[in-house]
This record gives sequence, C-alpha cells and structure tokens, in this order.
Amino acid sequence: LNVTMFSPPLHRQRHQFVIDFVERNKPKKVGDLGCGECSLLKKLRFHREVELLVGVDINGTQVHKNMHGLAPLSTDYLQPTYNQLCIELYQGSVTQKDARLRGFDLLTSIELIEHLTLADVKSFSEVVFGYMTPAVAIISTPNSEFNPLFPGLAGFRHSDHKFEWSRAEFRTWALEVCQDFGYEVEFTGVGQAPSGLQERVGFCSQIGVFRRLRARDDSNVLLEDVFSYTLVSSLNLYHYFSIVWLLFPLAFSEGRPPEKVKLISYNLIFYIA
Ligand SMILES: C[S@@+](CC[C@H](N)C(=O)[O-])C[C@H]1O[C@@H](n2cnc3c(N)ncnc32)[C@H](O)[C@@H]1O
Repeated sequence: LNVTMFSPPLHRQRHQFVIDFVERNKPKKVGDLGCGECSLLKKLRFHREVELLVGVDINGTQVHKNMHGLAPLSTDYLQPTYNQLCIELYQGSVTQKDARLRGFDLLTSIELIEHLTLADVKSFSEVVFGYMTPAVAIISTPNSEFNPLFPGLAGFRHSDHKFEWSRAEFRTWALEVCQDFGYEVEFTGVGQAPSGLQERVGFCSQIGVFRRLRARDDSNVLLEDVFSYTLVSSLNLYHYFSIVWLLFPLAFSEGRPPEKVKLISYNLIFYIA
C-alpha cells in the first residue's frame, strides 16, 4: 500500500478524526477497541476532559510492548489537573462481552472490523452496540471502491483482511446495526480521492459515526450486574485480562489535605505485568 499517497498519512488522518471529535464533544469515558500499538490512546491522553481511557486488543504482547508510552510524563507532575485520568489496557476480543467496557461516552474501532470474519462481525455488533452501548461509536474500515487507485494493488490492502466493503456494503451493515440496537449513523471518511474522483470512489477509509438514540436502560444494567456475580457468568463477563492500570497526578483542591493527596496521587502508578 502506497502510504505516501496521503498527506498527512492516512493513519494519522483517521486518528485526527477521533481527536477532533473528542475536542468538540468532550467525552469523559473513551475506549479504543483494537488499540494495537496504542498510538491513538497516546494522543487522547493529552485531552484533559477525558477521565477514563481504555484500550482493548486481542494482541496482548503488542499492547504490553507499547504501554510505556502512556505513562505520565514529568510535565504531568509539574502541571497536575483536577480531573483524574485513569488508563486501563486489556487483552481481549471485541467479539466477547466485558462489563468494564459498558457505559462509555465514546468507543472507537479504527481499521479493526475488516480483520474479523463475517460471523465475528455479527458478534462485534452485538457486543459493542447491544451490550457495551456507548453513547457514540466511531467505526472506520477500508472502502474497497478506492482500491483501483492504488497502483499495483491486487486483492485486499492487507493480508489479514477478511473482507473490504464498498460504501453500499458498509452502509447495509451500519443501517442494520442501527435498526437492531437503536442507533443513528452518519457516514463520512478520510483520505480524499484526487479531484474529480471523490464522488465516484469515495474516501479511502470510510467512517461511520453512530449515536445512540435512547438513554441507557438502567434496569437492564442492574439485571446484568446481578447476573455477573455468579461464578460462571463472572468468568464469562470478565474475561479480558488487565495488563496495565495507570492513575495520573491529581492537583489538590481546597478542603483536601494537600500534601497527602499530592503524595498519594503521585505514587499511584501501577504496572501489572
Ligand atoms: C490494523 S490494526 C489497527 C490498530 C489501531 N486501531 C490503529 O488505528 O492503528 C488492527 C488491530 O485490531 C486488533 N484485533 C484484531 N482482531 C481483534 C479482536 N477480535 N479483538 C480485539 N482486537 C483485535 C489487532 O491485533 C490489531 O492491533
């Protein structure tokens, strides 16, 4: 794949799309599904409105290798904020439920679904939209109609891709998700085609921004929480393995014993390998 075709590079444009969304909408709980090398998380961690940042990937080794880039910097200690930032990284599959990923303001899935079989995409839809029920989900995937513009590309853009969808195919899946789980979707993308071709081929990466239509049903949440306390269910529900848990420095405010709070927060940095 000729990555020099885009400026800035396509992967950066995809992440910038999420960053722009976060800047405009200020979500507090953000999760990145298929976080890979944690590069989106590394950018999101500088958005101080975010209080909980969670990454999940099936490849635990990759996450482990890259997690150190998420640790607090010396500038975080010099300028602590009043919002506590907590980062959690999990090894797990997005085709399986985990209660700790429920109730987020924003979940992102950037260039992930095309790595799943179609049967797993069905599980992904049920898990993300039916169980995790984020207020907003941003899903990106290659647009196959753009492929003829890549010189010499035969087949898929990556050997691990199980499919690459046209805009119509992406739309069909997205609208079905909306109907089944009560969302609305807006279609957009990044990676503009050369002038004159945009309408015909669309964006290189197509993006769906899904918004939940109804408020989350709290009685449902309670029912599922109760169910999760049984041993078998809890194993089923909590099978993501926590790799790292980081707490960031917190500024002390009036009414708190300053030195103690400062000391505790500065020392609450855990690496659980
Ligand atoms: C092309 S990479 C994209 C990484 C990242 N989202 C980005 O934008 O750079 C796809 C990622 O999805 C992960 N992945 C594939 N199948 C998965 C699954 N079932 N559950 C969670 N992650 C998965 C892979 O390990 C890989 O890190």
